[in-house]
Amino acid sequence: MFHSAQTWLCFTATFIRCASTMSGMMRAVTFEPGGPEKLGIASVPIPQLREKEVLLKVYATAINRADTLQRRGMYPAPAGESEILGLEAVGIIEKLGPGCVKSWKTGDRVMALLPGGGNAEYVASREELLMPVPDNMKFTQAAAIPEVWLTAFQLLFTVGKLKKNDTVLIHAGGSGVGTAAVQLCRQYGARALVVAGSQEKIDFAKSLGAEDGFNYKETEFEPKVLEHTQGKGVDLILDCIGGSFFNQNINAIATEGTWVVYGLMGGSTVSNGDHLAKILRKRITIVGSTLRARSVEYKESLISDFTHRALPHFSDGELRPIVHTILTLDSIKEAHQLMESNVTTGKIVIQVREESAKEEL
Ligand SMILES: NC(=O)c1ccc[n+]([C@@H]2O[C@H](COP(=O)([O-])OP(=O)(O)OC[C@H]3O[C@@H](n4cnc5c(N)ncnc54)[C@H](OP(=O)(O)O)[C@@H]3O)[C@@H](O)[C@H]2O)c1
Repeated sequence: MFHSAQTWLCFTATFIRCASTMSGMMRAVTFEPGGPEKLGIASVPIPQLREKEVLLKVYATAINRADTLQRRGMYPAPAGESEILGLEAVGIIEKLGPGCVKSWKTGDRVMALLPGGGNAEYVASREELLMPVPDNMKFTQAAAIPEVWLTAFQLLFTVGKLKKNDTVLIHAGGSGVGTAAVQLCRQYGARALVVAGSQEKIDFAKSLGAEDGFNYKETEFEPKVLEHTQGKGVDLILDCIGGSFFNQNINAIATEGTWVVYGLMGGSTVSNGDHLAKILRKRITIVGSTLRARSVEYKESLISDFTHRALPHFSDGELRPIVHTILTLDSIKEAHQLMESNVTTGKIVIQVREESAKEEL
């Protein structure tokens, strides 16, 4: 009946998956605090729906830096939320929970911004935190949108109050957030400069619309930014680096510029110096921002703005999700190792299920 051992194994794995779903169980990423080797796949119960939640049959999900921090035990899930990793998932609505009032219905193709739980075969999502998958977009592309695009949109517009023709300095210009921010700047009519650790990432950011880019491993970016802006400095900095770039940022920002700190990949401490004097003299606004810990109401409003202002441009081709690679749930260790190696440009997507032609639309 089976032509090879491989076919038999494949059949067995599929059978186990079907059987586990029928018994109310699903496969999900679990971990013990530590390195990527501490990640694993376990059979866990399919989530029970709470008020205003929908059950999503997950086709694809993605990896974020927050997952790597949570895995190391440094960024616990918010109280009451899933301990399973995964801040985003895309798929098909399987079931509506109690009290759902939005217009979503079973069978809808949606993207979800999650407080956790996305790296699994099913996830419960608040109905307010869903967006439609753009027309003609595969799930494995759509999975690269929710977390980094909503973050970039929030940092530029909600927090950074970006204006047309402003110049924005985007650190980690090849990152998931960075590649989204560059495209949003170009699409809106602002000027993006990037800092990144390789010429390839800089060239890629330029292909997305960045005016210029600087390799921080080879040169100080501060004099280059000042040269590019005729000594004025940038109006807005999107800073996910923190400590190691602090001195250069303070000199590269324009008078009355806004500096949004949203990550600390370069450390959380700052060297001695007359920093406060410079902040005072330049009247700099420094603001911190997170997304995961914000209220459902805040996220709903952000998602609504993004859905109206940015999402249509994924259908007309002005904006596009950037996918570095697509792996499977079983490759979760490799996915975390890849992200922590700092070589990726854009997102690491995890395909959870195959899409049929009908589901792809
Ligand atoms: N606050 C929020 O709401 C929020 C939400 C989402 C993400 N984030 C943060 O946003 C940042 C980017 O996330 P992501 O998922 O887009 O990241 P990502 O795609 O994994 O890219 C991160 C890139 O940053 C660069 N990098 C790493 N360490 C660095 C250092 N010490 N100095 C300079 N560059 C460094 C590396 O590229 P190169 O060195 O090659 O340039 C790395 O590939 C992370 O810090 C994440 O925690 C914050």
